[in-house]
Formats: sequence, structure tokens, C-alpha cells
Amino acid sequence: MTEPIRLAAVDDIPTDTGLLVDSSVSGTSDDLALFRDGDEVFALDDTCTHSLASLAEGFVSDGKVECPLHAAEFCLRDGKALSLPATIDVATHKVEVRDGEVFLVED
Ligand code: FES
Repeated sequence: MTEPIRLAAVDDIPTDTGLLVDSSVSGTSDDLALFRDGDEVFALDDTCTHSLASLAEGFVSDGKVECPLHAAEFCLRDGKALSLPATIDVATHKVEVRDGEVFLVED
């Protein structure tokens, strides 16, 4: 099993938008967008499945992120596309919080 990869400190993640983690750090095929919802942290692929917007620049509320370009919404928990124009779910990644730090634990 590969070692968990540190992505960020929880406190670095805004509560109303996301935090971009470059793929050179995460080792993932796409950059990651980290989000907070209450005490939970979620990691999604950064690129909106509708076009090329960065979900890390989106707007977070009620467990969802709204794409900043055409306002499609995605569930933070499972990446499900919840509204048009997006029809394809966005990939999610499993993260854990340890001592205030966010780690990517599987990909
Ligand atoms: S690029 Fe995200 S909804 Fe169009």
C-alpha cells in the first residue's frame, strides 16, 4: 500500500469555495479540489465534467459545489452531477484528516 500523500492543512481550505491541489502534489491524473463541509473534507477532480472550469473556484453550500462557469452543481460526498448543464459525475478521492492535515489515502 502506498503512503498517504499530504495535500493541505484543513485550515487552508475555505468554507465557501475550494482549494486547488496541483496534480504534481497529489499524483492524480487531474488536479484536485478540496472542500470543507462542517467537519468533513472532500476531494474531487478539479475539472468540471461539462467543460474546463476549475471546481476549486466554485461556490460551496449545503454539501454541494456550484461550478463557477455555468453553475452545474456536484455533490461533495459522491461527485454526482446534480444539475444541468453537467450530466457526468466528477471523480472523488478518499481523504483522511489527521491532526488538522488532509491526506489522500487512496486513488
Ligand atoms: S464548465 Fe462547469 S458547468 Fe460548464
